[in-house]
Amino acid sequence: MDLFDPKTYRAVRGPLRDAETLPPACYTSQEFYQREVSEIFLKSWNLVGRADYVKKPGDYFTHMVGGVSFIVMRGDDGQIRAFVNACRHRGTQLLQGEGNCRTIRCPYHSWVYDSAGSLRGANGMQETRSFAASDYGLIGLRLETWEGFLFVNFDPNAESLGQYLGNLDAWTGSYGFEEMITVKRREFLIRANWKSYVENSLEHFHLPTVHQKTIGGVRAVWDPVDGAPGNFVILRSKTTASRATLGNAVSFGNIPTLRGPAAEGAQYILVYPCTVIGADLDCMWFKQMLPEGPDSMRLLAGFCFTKASVERPDFDEVVENYHRRFELVMGEDNDIAEKHLRGVLNPFARAGRLSSVEPLVHVIDNWILDRVVGPGREA
Ligand code: FES
Ligand SMILES: [Fe+2]
Repeated sequence: MDLFDPKTYRAVRGPLRDAETLPPACYTSQEFYQREVSEIFLKSWNLVGRADYVKKPGDYFTHMVGGVSFIVMRGDDGQIRAFVNACRHRGTQLLQGEGNCRTIRCPYHSWVYDSAGSLRGANGMQETRSFAASDYGLIGLRLETWEGFLFVNFDPNAESLGQYLGNLDAWTGSYGFEEMITVKRREFLIRANWKSYVENSLEHFHLPTVHQKTIGGVRAVWDPVDGAPGNFVILRSKTTASRATLGNAVSFGNIPTLRGPAAEGAQYILVYPCTVIGADLDCMWFKQMLPEGPDSMRLLAGFCFTKASVERPDFDEVVENYHRRFELVMGEDNDIAEKHLRGVLNPFARAGRLSSVEPLVHVIDNWILDRVVGPGREA
């Protein structure tokens, strides 16, 4: 099978009711993965975290997307920037994890960069001819923000973040994401393909089976949103109560400012390629399905609440009801994603057929094929 021949995907490209799933090799092939990196991750706006991860000047965290390690740092001037995480002397990785530093000192020969990435101390270069420190600052990456979220793009010619997100604000404008506070973060290394985790996050078909013991029984009217201008799709769940706690657990109550679609229930928003924002009536969480190869991904999750909720005297007690639900449901999704990979790794696995109740799986797979193989979806 030629994974880069558009004809391979004729059955994925057709209308949903005729369509096949992606062939198993798309979830396991190293070549297909490399093409995803070059055609998707190195060209898209990748969500990398929240501005409140770097509150003070000198605060930084490191991150990796598509094999590129980079530093996100708040400068002395208050501005948040992203830099390639490699020294300009002989290329050593500069920082790991997260923390705070006034200057970045290379662990190899002590070149020193300031918080804006400029080279301030070029140890040992006094005798080197035609060397100007100003030519050897850290390599900057495009970083733009939306509603308190930080996005990085490696492509200098890419459209702006605003153009990339299109009219997403029409669905999210009333949550006040920007003022929300990230109260907890989680990280898991999962033996799964990133696409299968993304697909899973945008279909409700698996809820009664995978989440039987947790959120599987909650009734809702499901409404998929696709085709709005912008690189996102939304699975809306029309319910009157939040889906972010289990059973009758005490919750924070609805966010009073919600209007329009946001007031009608939860919205699970995939910002392509691999971030899902769970916007509920009383809180917001987000998760990134970051591939590290065809068969492994890092799941990074953040849980955010309004300032009013965080300031409640009973916040620490009530928030546990949310964390308990998040842990249980994420555990169930992590487990099914690993089972999916083990299945498609089976040499006898074949492409399957899609159900009419998982339309966004079809939409997502076609978005990926448009970039990896080239445009060509039939109406
Ligand atoms: S590699 Fe960084 S100072 Fe030498
Ligand atoms: Fe799930």
